[in-house]
Amino acid sequence: MSKILVAVAWPYANGPRHIGHVSGFGVPADVFARYRRMAGDEVLMVSGSDEHGTAIQVQADTEGLTPQQTVDKYHRVIAEDLRRLGLTYDLYTRTTTRNHAAVTQEMFRALLANGYVVPHTQLGAISPSTGRTLADRYIEGTCPICGFPAARGDQCDNCGQQLDPVDLIEPRSRVNGERPLFVETEHFFLDLPALKQSLGHWLERRTDWRPNVMKFSRQLIQELRPRAITRDLDWGIPVPVAGWSDNPMKSIYVWFDAVIGYLSASIEWAGRQGRPQAWREWWQDPAAESYYFMGKDNITFHSVIWPGILLGANGQGDRGGQPSSFGTLELPTEIVSSEYLTMSGSKFSTSRQQVIYVGDFLNQFGPDALRYHIAVAGPENQDTDFTWDEFVRRNNTELNNEWGNLVNRSISLAFRHNRAIPAPGPLQRGDQDLLAAAGSAYAEVGQALERAHFKQAIGQAMSLVSAANKYLSRAEPWKLSDPARRDTVLHTVLQVVWDCNTLLTPFLPHAAQRVFEQLGGQGVWAAQPELVEVSEEGNADYPVLTGGGADQLARWRSQPIPVGRPLAKPSPIFHKLDEALGRTGPSWAPLEPVD
Ligand code: MF3
Ligand code: ZN
Repeated sequence: MSKILVAVAWPYANGPRHIGHVSGFGVPADVFARYRRMAGDEVLMVSGSDEHGTAIQVQADTEGLTPQQTVDKYHRVIAEDLRRLGLTYDLYTRTTTRNHAAVTQEMFRALLANGYVVPHTQLGAISPSTGRTLADRYIEGTCPICGFPAARGDQCDNCGQQLDPVDLIEPRSRVNGERPLFVETEHFFLDLPALKQSLGHWLERRTDWRPNVMKFSRQLIQELRPRAITRDLDWGIPVPVAGWSDNPMKSIYVWFDAVIGYLSASIEWAGRQGRPQAWREWWQDPAAESYYFMGKDNITFHSVIWPGILLGANGQGDRGGQPSSFGTLELPTEIVSSEYLTMSGSKFSTSRQQVIYVGDFLNQFGPDALRYHIAVAGPENQDTDFTWDEFVRRNNTELNNEWGNLVNRSISLAFRHNRAIPAPGPLQRGDQDLLAAAGSAYAEVGQALERAHFKQAIGQAMSLVSAANKYLSRAEPWKLSDPARRDTVLHTVLQVVWDCNTLLTPFLPHAAQRVFEQLGGQGVWAAQPELVEVSEEGNADYPVLTGGGADQLARWRSQPIPVGRPLAKPSPIFHKLDEALGRTGPSWAPLEPVD
């Protein structure tokens, strides 16, 4: 039994999330966490809404709201979507809490005291009309390298070069077209070169990461430069330095505070449990493991910046130092990154209206259809196109015809003949083979899940489902005149349905609860998260998701189904979708990119 921290990327609260987001971080993390809990590990799964930074400020301006109103609105929407999807966070909180600000500032102070955060002056762009800073990506101009007229301040989409806004020819604001003013501005930088050695040493010992993450991260540390961790922005956590903390125009950079969220959310969780020190069990014990789930655009921040922050705050870089008041904190065990879910070859994009929102999807198809699709056809190892055609086909042929029909056929027969789980007689070779396959599936599927190989895991579980269907078609219990033999076949198949249901529980927790009940089970088989309002001193009440680790009956092992237990009258668990939907998509969803 191990302590496992499941750290899930924090979605920006600048709008509702689309299915690309949850396929990158939410669903894979939840499948993993559910499996580890079933296997007996002590999981702490934390995340929250990422509520600071320019993206929020820009959305607020668009909607005519304050940034706080904007994040209040979307935090609630996102938390509700994640709840409906069945993501079992122990705590899904937000970054505008006082606790989070205090933890972020303490980490900042520790880094400063240890010499890994240093001040430095640079040129920054401001909008002459508003006096506000213009973030790099809101500046546009001609690329100094290739002459592309619409290069962004941070990079040129034509030649791919990283740029600095001051380099652009004819720079202009993307917000209102005016020419930005470049002024000297002082910022604090995370001195990554001083952490390079210890980062490299840590990375060398990572052996079983997904190859994409490993290669990318090793590359990154070759080219480390100091990185600004403050911004000229009035929406963010104040910089805890004399002369800065009361300057409303200076804030901590959103990415610096967001990654610290994993720690602050763990601390908040422990406090809400009434065991304020309990978070340490996941952060300070070298035997505890931590798995971070995200889309690939987040890798840098988790495989280099966050470990760098931890090493510096621990006092473990070239300059030495003392651990922060949190003590020595453990670095990530593994970074699990997904590629992109695309549509007609392009990335899902809110700004281009090429988007399928989680809420819309859940309204029409429910959580497990989406969870299944992400597990079996998600962007685990490469960019993957979402098509309605494939969604409908897999839902109908795999989820409905294979799994749904196996459950329905076997329980209906047993209900009709026995009303309860029948007793087995002597087993024949075919019965034994199927039971043996079910028994060994736990180790196989479990090993794949442990390594976050979701496609492989669900493929193995579904092949047991196929084997059980074949068994049923071959044994034809509906034709058997010998009731003892029929009981044996039905007992065998119900046992294997129980096993398949157990193996599929991390992927399909809502369906698993219903199959459990149709097999006569009582109580909570698979726990679901709850949305609750919590309070914090000095802050308005806010909703969080919690309860993911609540008591549940599901265990990762074969349990004999109890003979004689009454069966519930079965009703179909999955539904076939109209094939026309595969050609057109639902009326609310785009089929093709708009531009
Ligand atoms: N908000 C970021 C995004 O959506 C992810 C932040 S992950 C965190 O890309 F760890 F930094 F919180
Ligand atoms: Zn260019």
